[in-house]
Amino acid sequence: MNIAVIGTQWGDEGKGKIVDLLTPNVSIVARYQGGHNAGHTVRVGSDQFVLHLLPSGILRRGVRCVIGNGVVVDPVALFSEIETLGKQGVEVGDRLLISDRAHLILPYHRELEELAEKRRGDRKIGTTARGIGPAYEDKAGRRGVRVGDLANAVEGGDLASIIQENVAARNRALKVGDKDWRTVYQDICATWHRLERWVGDVSVSLMQAFESGETVLFEGAQGTMLDIDHGSYPFVSSSSATAGGICTGLGIGPRRVGTVLGIAKAYITRVGEGPLPTELHGETGEQLREAGQEYGASTGRPRRCGWYDAVAARYAVRVNGLDALAVTKLDVLDGLEEIPLCTAYRYGDSVLTEFPSRGQSLSDCQPVYERLPGWSRPTAGVRRYDDLPLEAKAYLDRLAEVTGVPIALISTGSDRADTILIRDGLIDKWQSGRPRSPES
Ligand code: IMP
Repeated sequence: MNIAVIGTQWGDEGKGKIVDLLTPNVSIVARYQGGHNAGHTVRVGSDQFVLHLLPSGILRRGVRCVIGNGVVVDPVALFSEIETLGKQGVEVGDRLLISDRAHLILPYHRELEELAEKRRGDRKIGTTARGIGPAYEDKAGRRGVRVGDLANAVEGGDLASIIQENVAARNRALKVGDKDWRTVYQDICATWHRLERWVGDVSVSLMQAFESGETVLFEGAQGTMLDIDHGSYPFVSSSSATAGGICTGLGIGPRRVGTVLGIAKAYITRVGEGPLPTELHGETGEQLREAGQEYGASTGRPRRCGWYDAVAARYAVRVNGLDALAVTKLDVLDGLEEIPLCTAYRYGDSVLTEFPSRGQSLSDCQPVYERLPGWSRPTAGVRRYDDLPLEAKAYLDRLAEVTGVPIALISTGSDRADTILIRDGLIDKWQSGRPRSPES
């Protein structure tokens, strides 16, 4: 009865809101990849919360949150997020568990990332500049520092040597000044006394939770198209954002994953560089950006906007094994006369219906559109399916048909309440089989 919430596009699909909606029916929300490059926005009445590293479940009292080994953790960012939430009245307390196997983001990761982006010139990725990529590079290079390494760290021990070597490599790469490894070492060791209370073995805790019948929600960050293996490589993030990452990023078996829900905007956005086949460059793109307030929750960068891409969506259905879709931001399309829906790509003389594996090919793909009528009566704030305009229902029906999975939920605004749950749809059935937590 566990459930996974996965982005089907290039991130920013509105996962935070959906996770927040589902959390009354779960005991634990677990993040399995990424780091504080994520920006999950949840609006509750007049309050707005932006979560980066903490699972969105933290906003519901009584829900426990897990940061798995697949996540990269910047302790400074973590403490600052916990403090900000505290000021907004959300106490983390003992509801957080961080894997002792999760890798740390250290200050030199950010510096090395800046250098790498500069060197790439016009082939730059347009990263969030949080040090995410270099931290995963160190992990794969077997020179990373894990959260658990901070326990019992002693001067002259393994941790000190690793940091000494990493800082020496940083000094060689940057060729500017000599950073003293001792400062880096001492600063990171000093975070332990604050971190310690939350650190443990996530795999063991999740197994205990499963065995005692608790339900877990697996919260994906970024999206399928930013996945290191399955995304639009090389313009991707460095982690496994797809459903496969849940098992490796938390230390659980595949049979525990349960239901897999994909989140998709009714259109598409991307932040950073790399191909976006349905991108709109003119006025309509601007209109979508303003209507959808499409600015990065982490970096404030304007997001590139385009039409719904069913080729990418079908790919997300396949690589994640999606059971259903939650379609968000339908209201952003309000007032458009016509809505193009991309059903295939034209690539040279051929028509592609499968997502290409090479970023270069994707840049040369032209969208093939089907055009559907827009609607004049607004969908913003609509909370019952029957109250949607006929044209909006037709658009959603076609979107589901070309994507290949049913729609289980539609979001028509940023508030929790601006949501339509499809009767007898996947979420409705899932929720009716789950008890609601008394504290929700
Ligand atoms: P990185 O994750 O900072 O390495 O950035 C790699 C790419 O992923 C860049 O194009 C970022 O803009 C993008 N990216 C990373 N995290 C997010 C996210 O949470 N939402 C949308 N794009 C993201």
